[in-house]
Amino acid sequence: MRSIKVNLDKKSLSSYEICIGNSILDRMALLIAKNHKAGHHIVITDSNVGKLHGSKLLAALKDVGLNVDLIEFPAGEPAKNIHTVVDVAGRLLDLGADRNSLLIALGGGVVGDLVGFIASIFMRSIPYIQIPTTLLAQVDSSIGGKTAIDLPCGKNLLGTFYQPQAVFTDLSYLSSLTEEEFNNGLAEIIKYGIIDDAKMFRLLEDNMEPEKIKDPVLLLKLVELCCRIKKSIVEIDEKEQGLRRILNYGHTLGHALEAQSAFALSHGEAVALGMIAAARISENSGYLESGSRERIERLIRKAGLPCRIPEYLATGGIISRLKMDKKKDGDIIHFILLKKIGMPFVNGGIDEKIITPVIEGMR
Ligand SMILES: NC(=O)c1ccc[n+]([C@@H]2O[C@H](COP(=O)([O-])OP(=O)(O)OC[C@H]3O[C@@H](n4cnc5c(N)ncnc54)[C@H](O)[C@@H]3O)[C@@H](O)[C@H]2O)c1
Repeated sequence: MRSIKVNLDKKSLSSYEICIGNSILDRMALLIAKNHKAGHHIVITDSNVGKLHGSKLLAALKDVGLNVDLIEFPAGEPAKNIHTVVDVAGRLLDLGADRNSLLIALGGGVVGDLVGFIASIFMRSIPYIQIPTTLLAQVDSSIGGKTAIDLPCGKNLLGTFYQPQAVFTDLSYLSSLTEEEFNNGLAEIIKYGIIDDAKMFRLLEDNMEPEKIKDPVLLLKLVELCCRIKKSIVEIDEKEQGLRRILNYGHTLGHALEAQSAFALSHGEAVALGMIAAARISENSGYLESGSRERIERLIRKAGLPCRIPEYLATGGIISRLKMDKKKDGDIIHFILLKKIGMPFVNGGIDEKIITPVIEGMR
């Protein structure tokens, strides 16, 4: 099992370990019992993950002597809302949860974001642990302490910065993912290559065939590389005052597309489209040479991710969503653009006139 320490400002209070390995359930349970003591451990998961992996985790935690319960909520992005928060909080109270309880988020990014949010506000905050079960959550959302729920008018508009006590990443969970969900995670892995690691981008270009990319040794290497990139960015800029914004490469337009499609487009698919749009804006504005833009599009296509914005998403609607983005300043929409692969920068503001033809060109 590999271990990566995330060192944050208030050191002993908010620093934590990311443990990564394959089939680490028993070791994980022992480590939780030893290092994360609490009167009551409550696993919160969604209906899909609960069915597949909930009872095994519960049994492993009971085996090491913990007082454990499980709460499930409906799977999928539409459940990442205030109604689920209120419902789960009520069920926590029914189970007798108090400030001596610890929450365990077992699931993908939706579970991690929602449980982190609840942990940050339940009885003015209680600790939580992340056990990410999608590739996307393992390389991205479980690390860094961004918690969130969606509002009807946009994604992640209510949220907090609240770090978990630990992250346990077990690659064996990935074997029950659908092809589509696996590919969603590849979108975030490609993102890390684009924003920070040209060598990893090349490694992905050489190994994106389905039979190669799922090789356990390669997968472990990629997950670890991504966790190291994210942790080093979060350590410098925990609250997204500057550097951390580069992690949003592809997400400005991605979030707008995801919300405008009423989540018919998954997060990974929307981010893939957003990454292509950002590369095209970078190229059209004279920052990025065309060879790099083409490499990005080729790799995204090879990963089974979309390269075309669906016709049913009207350009005007997408632009209105962009204007609601929480990272905008006044009417200025910030995009993360590229000088080259591995070298991003935060653009001071992109005009609607530049974005519109790029969206139209991706039909
Ligand atoms: N907090 C952050 O820093 C951050 C970063 C990136 C994305 N996100 C958020 O993450 C969410 C997307 O995450 P996601 O793609 O993991 O979505 P998700 O949590 O909805 O999971 C996708 C689907 O896979 C299922 N699933 C999860 N694990 C499984 C497993 N092991 N086997 C079979 N099925 C499984 C889920 O039930 C769900 O149906 C979005 O809400 C996004 O905003 C947050």
